[in-house]
Amino acid sequence: MSPKVTSNSPVIAIDGPTASGKGTVAQKVAEHLGYHYLDSGALYRLVGLASFKKGISTASEQELAPIAKELNVIFQGDRIILDGEDVSDQIRQEEMGKRASEVAIHPMVRQALVARQHAFRQKPGLVADGRDMASAIFTDAVTKVYLTASAEARAERRYKQLIAKGFSANIQVLLQDLRDRDERDANRSNSPLKAVEGAHHLDTTSMTIEEAVNQILKWHQVN
Ligand code: C5P
Repeated sequence: MSPKVTSNSPVIAIDGPTASGKGTVAQKVAEHLGYHYLDSGALYRLVGLASFKKGISTASEQELAPIAKELNVIFQGDRIILDGEDVSDQIRQEEMGKRASEVAIHPMVRQALVARQHAFRQKPGLVADGRDMASAIFTDAVTKVYLTASAEARAERRYKQLIAKGFSANIQVLLQDLRDRDERDANRSNSPLKAVEGAHHLDTTSMTIEEAVNQILKWHQVN
């Protein structure tokens, strides 16, 4: 069943694998256009974290679905508040990325997050970043981008991000972890990561953030 169209505000859907730089690029595109921004991965990470705190296994779809449905979360600029606690840094940890991709395989969890994602679509427009933005959540997005980069470039970017935030990291472990995550995201039966027909492909391996942002703005202008 495809989700219904929720409003006429234009959506730019940016999908791609983990650590491809989508988040940074999507936020800058949103800033440039004065659009709202949805980091859908954060919602799966929040389900990963909230279930972890309650001692619930990522295999337990029945117990995870109500957690996803009832997430008590506030997005405040770049801070994310869960049950009154600022969890912005906690959800960025590798362990939560891994848990996110484990909870994300469950159809009931995905379904529980649909309405919450639709609610981000407000005037004057939305830039939505994730895995299934164009294929499932905003199928009528005016601009669809499939953004990627080589696994090595992505591992290096993730490494730099973690170090900059004061976390310790090992590049070989990161590379293996992101390959495992790619595998899980691309091969799950429910809303797998894939480029939809009509999506613009953007390989950012040797591009700067500004170049990627400008390319997306150009594509969006002609739509
Ligand atoms: O983008 P990010 O790395 O924060 O996403 C964490 C995980 O959440 C992904 O590996 C993926 O399994 C899941 N996810 C998803 N659908 C989305 C966004 C994220 O399944 N739209």
